[in-house]
Amino acid sequence: MNACIRAIVRIGIARGLDIYGIYGGLQGLLDKRFEQMKARSVSNIVHRGGTCLTTGRSEEFREEEGQKKAARILKEEGFTGLFALGGNGTMHGMTKLQRYWEGQIIGIPGTIDNDVYGTDYSIGFDTAVNNAVEAIDKIRDTAQSFDRVFLIEVMGRDSGAIATHVGIACGAEIIIIPETTTDIEDVAAKINAGKRRGKTFAFIVVAEGDEEGDAAEIKRKLSGKIVEDCRISVLGYIQRGGNPSHFDRVLATKLGAHAVDCFFKGESGVMVGEIAGKLSATPLIDTISKKKVVDIYLLGLVDALSI
Ligand code: F6P
Repeated sequence: MNACIRAIVRIGIARGLDIYGIYGGLQGLLDKRFEQMKARSVSNIVHRGGTCLTTGRSEEFREEEGQKKAARILKEEGFTGLFALGGNGTMHGMTKLQRYWEGQIIGIPGTIDNDVYGTDYSIGFDTAVNNAVEAIDKIRDTAQSFDRVFLIEVMGRDSGAIATHVGIACGAEIIIIPETTTDIEDVAAKINAGKRRGKTFAFIVVAEGDEEGDAAEIKRKLSGKIVEDCRISVLGYIQRGGNPSHFDRVLATKLGAHAVDCFFKGESGVMVGEIAGKLSATPLIDTISKKKVVDIYLLGLVDALSI
């Protein structure tokens, strides 16, 4: 997020714009918490996780009255464009705001879940996956030394993107995600068959939002069905923090710069992204009405990779 804010501020200023940062997300806009950003306002943040502008969820903005109020404030303050960095909720909010405000709205995908339609990767996903991979590599020492089955829960309320990438990168035996139907009997059979083939330990990576439940619930459902008890590790918020990866910093910079370009081209109601190596601008309405699909190809490799 910070690398993107930095790019928007500096490239925007270099091209003659006055840039204001809104603190606290959409609620901050409703509370008029904005401040002019100078080139030095974004010094020393390119390597930091989180966001220097802070963020939050806004109940008030969910209501039509809140959206109208936001539009009123933007108009009264004389803003002509809004760069909105966030996930599906943010893009949804922007389509609502569009109804009441005629300024240029440009969305930028920033979510570890990588579930926003209109970009191959969203800002934060790569860092979150790296954080989870690093943690699991450490847990692997216990799994291998104690011959244990581990259920690792990663983030992803409605999305299995993190689980899929983490599972492949960590050599998981099984990946459980909300986009596919989970068959507990099948999970147990695969773990037991692996044991019979001489596997001494195993990893099951589960996305927190799977329809069969989180890691604790799946452990309960597996109880008595697999040859031994499994241990759980919930990685949680550790995934969302820390220094962003080089990939995320570069992606964030590119998308921030492209957002400014789109502003100068007069675009509005779009979300910037990168698709197959090309910078793109997808209508906001598509980002919320079309579903980004999880990488089925990668999922299809798991069984063969864990023989
Ligand atoms: O949407 C991103 C995400 O990190 C999800 O993966 C996770 O379920 C959720 O946010 C956590 O939200 P909160 O910070 O409100 O607990």
